[in-house]
Amino acid sequence: MEEKNEVEVGVSRRNFLSGTGKLIAGTAIASSVLAGQADKAGAYAFKNGFKYTKLDPKEVGKITYENYFKRWCASSVVAGFVELLQKKVGGDWNTFPIDAMRWAHGGLAGWGALCGTLSGAGTIIGLCTSDTDVAEEMVNDLAFIYSYNEMPAYAPAKPIKASIKNMTMSSTPICHISVGRWMKAEGAAFLSNERAERCARVAADIAMAACQMLNDHVDGKYKAKHKPLFNVAANGITSQNNCMDCHGQNVPAADTYATLEK
Ligand code: HEC
Repeated sequence: MEEKNEVEVGVSRRNFLSGTGKLIAGTAIASSVLAGQADKAGAYAFKNGFKYTKLDPKEVGKITYENYFKRWCASSVVAGFVELLQKKVGGDWNTFPIDAMRWAHGGLAGWGALCGTLSGAGTIIGLCTSDTDVAEEMVNDLAFIYSYNEMPAYAPAKPIKASIKNMTMSSTPICHISVGRWMKAEGAAFLSNERAERCARVAADIAMAACQMLNDHVDGKYKAKHKPLFNVAANGITSQNNCMDCHGQNVPAADTYATLEK
């Protein structure tokens, strides 16, 4: 199912919401468009006092990695940015509650759902971009990076908990599958120093990738690599693209249901 990564679908959030793109339906977004005024539906503007300034991705990665062993995945990504933004920008960052998202570790308090590194990075992206479409494009790109790269790539100068050998591709942003694939390759338990080391490095990878996007945005050169709402459009249901991981050979087709006009 990975090749779907490369498929371009002729729909962007803006024309998706205004009804000019190929319309996929049965989603909350599509039905809210129908219920309201399609022409006016669009990403809402967002403003706050948290200012972003370009950061060194390596520094962000290092702070994230070091924080992991105290704060776990989501909060350590947040810390990787906030500790530097407090020094370089100050203002509202000085009182930013880094640990507000500590519940997001283990894919939501151990439920193995969304990898906490993405919740953490998404929070920073959400704060540091005023255009909601851009925020969504970045988070979407980040989910693709997370899913289709072998990780962890981050190599600490001095490993804090353990040396580890394997990098694995998750094909999904789901914590359980991502960490499970790596555990199988490494032969390590979840409650082990090796697995903690792996997740700390993944956190650094994701923080660095998010930092690069935000830096590019400051320079006016961030461009989305993937279509927003790509998976909904391509699959007819909110989804990752690793259908067979859960459905085996019998992946149900979403278009067996009555759907809005395409
Ligand atoms: C993380 C696991 C997981 C992944 C990955 C996943 N699904 Fe599902 N999906 C489910 C479960 C569980 C259900 C509920 C099915 C049930 O209870 O019978 C479901 C339901 C569905 C349904 C509605 C029920 C039906 O039988 O028509 C469709 C359509 C569907 N999935 C399509 C997909 C497609 C297409 C993909 C890949 C793009 C995908 N799924 C990926 C777990 C998953």
